[in-house]
Amino acid sequence: MPIIFKNLDRRTGNKHPLLCSSESIQRNFWRYNPHQTLLIVVLLIVVTAAAPLARADDPVAAQHGMVVTSEPLASEAGLEILRRGGNAVDAAVAVGFALAVTYPFAGNIGGGGFMLIRMASGKSVVIDYREEAPGAASRNMYLDSHGNLIPQASIVGALAVGVPGTVAGLALAEREYGKLGLAKVMAPAIRLARKGFPVSYWFSQSLKDHQNLLSRFPNSNRIFLRNGRLYEPGEIFRQQKLARTLAQIARHGPSVFYEGSIARDIVQTEKRLGGIMTLADLAYYQAKVRQPLVGHFRGYAVLSAPPPSSGGVALIEMLNILDPLNLGQLDSYDSMHLIVEAMRRAYADRAAYLGDADFVSVPVQGLISEPYAAKLRDEILHSKPDAPISAGPAAEYESHHTTHFCVIDAQGNAVSNTYTLNNGYGSGVTVDRAGFLLNDEMDDFASKPGSPNMFGLIQGEANAIAPHKRPLSSMTPTIVLENNQPRLIAGSPGGGTIPNTVLEVILNALVYKMDILRAVTEPRFHHQWMPDVLYLERQGFSADTVQKLLEAGYKLGWVNSIGECEAIEVDPKTGWRFGVADPRGYGKAVGY
Ligand code: DON
Repeated sequence: MPIIFKNLDRRTGNKHPLLCSSESIQRNFWRYNPHQTLLIVVLLIVVTAAAPLARADDPVAAQHGMVVTSEPLASEAGLEILRRGGNAVDAAVAVGFALAVTYPFAGNIGGGGFMLIRMASGKSVVIDYREEAPGAASRNMYLDSHGNLIPQASIVGALAVGVPGTVAGLALAEREYGKLGLAKVMAPAIRLARKGFPVSYWFSQSLKDHQNLLSRFPNSNRIFLRNGRLYEPGEIFRQQKLARTLAQIARHGPSVFYEGSIARDIVQTEKRLGGIMTLADLAYYQAKVRQPLVGHFRGYAVLSAPPPSSGGVALIEMLNILDPLNLGQLDSYDSMHLIVEAMRRAYADRAAYLGDADFVSVPVQGLISEPYAAKLRDEILHSKPDAPISAGPAAEYESHHTTHFCVIDAQGNAVSNTYTLNNGYGSGVTVDRAGFLLNDEMDDFASKPGSPNMFGLIQGEANAIAPHKRPLSSMTPTIVLENNQPRLIAGSPGGGTIPNTVLEVILNALVYKMDILRAVTEPRFHHQWMPDVLYLERQGFSADTVQKLLEAGYKLGWVNSIGECEAIEVDPKTGWRFGVADPRGYGKAVGY
């Protein structure tokens, strides 16, 4: 039986083992010597007395507003905006810009994503600010004259860059749904860039681990690696060029990015490094307002992202399949088997049908319809585990370099946002003069539809490259409503694993009735149809369950972590907000 090891540490992208299950966290705690343990207990008592709302083994609780992000300073930036009278959208936009400063691994103004907004009035929208292919992009642009994929071409360097959407998306969100205006909500980000912030242990590790990529580009080498004098924890990281860029956007709005001096800087950088993005491409770019997909699961309404993300479709398709099954009463192998079979089918469909629905026809309503789910459920209940299912192009499996954040304010306005540069630090290219990294989102297209890409994965015809088309995403920013009020806000990085991470957190919270910290911390598993491997988080599953999975015929692969879910749960009775930054990362939940 093949066992596949994949050792990516979510926080740094390196190959260190990662403590991720509650079991392993516990084991590690007891490795402290007695003096340390005593000291920790005393400290815990002091901290608990000072901040009664935040115990180490509970989610963070708050009565009014809550912000959860992958990076503590960005969470604080969001909270600052809430305290200044901003609503959830103001805070989310503040976080989006702050992460571009403090978490350049995935936070960005040179990438793109999806923001799901659900206003207390009941109105909900998805702002699609996904990157888009430049006008000169073509179906075979990453193939050599023999029709083979050119290694790295869609991942590293200027040719890998899609037209960035983040600035357009955040500005649109602020204009339509915020209260304070761009200048105020961008102030924390500008301050963090200008005055700098102390480099955390994790940030310093992450920079070290990405030296190979960043040192290939002189701007990136200078800014992020100080030409080889690497940042140590505690040193102050200042980004004057980025501060100036952000200040320009705050003052002049997104037009300076898409049609003004920043656009010129981007295009000059692209030209210098052999890219194809033009001023016309930047001027053409627009964030798009879309209707969220809505699913229904055991009385809850589930809002999530439509194409060009596959996330909402996959999530709702899986929830539909699982809805009437008595998961809560089954033992862990039996429920895992059903969930895995739902995953395999949703990902097979993803590979076959999904792409940018503005370019190709995607049968979204069919995929999320209940009769279709009933058919798939029937098939699952009457076939052997891991039985071959419809052949076709495979889904993708990517590493973890995206970031999710969630906000809720005192009025109940809620934001669930996932955005990314794709790989950690994107294409590695930092824009001349402007000081920010560009994405490598072109790699999310099927560079060669129907045959494996450089990771050995396959994607479908619907996701072939075309000018101005948006590459298929798996980002799944989600809000679950109970009685028309936000109950759960969640999302994750993790490429192709994202819909499954969100699914498992929803099932843990709503079916298995775990509190939100446990729902997020619980070990995760992932199946994406192809490759035909069930990935399990190491240390998370009992020997008995693993044995049953093997006996059933699943081919198992072991990973250190899957995703990094940031989540907020609202207690439907009291309205208290409970926030969790996934312990797999180093984020923070803050509230008031
Ligand atoms: O849009 C997508 O699905 C990917 N570009 C997301 C990349 C990602 O999540 C990488 N890892 N965390």
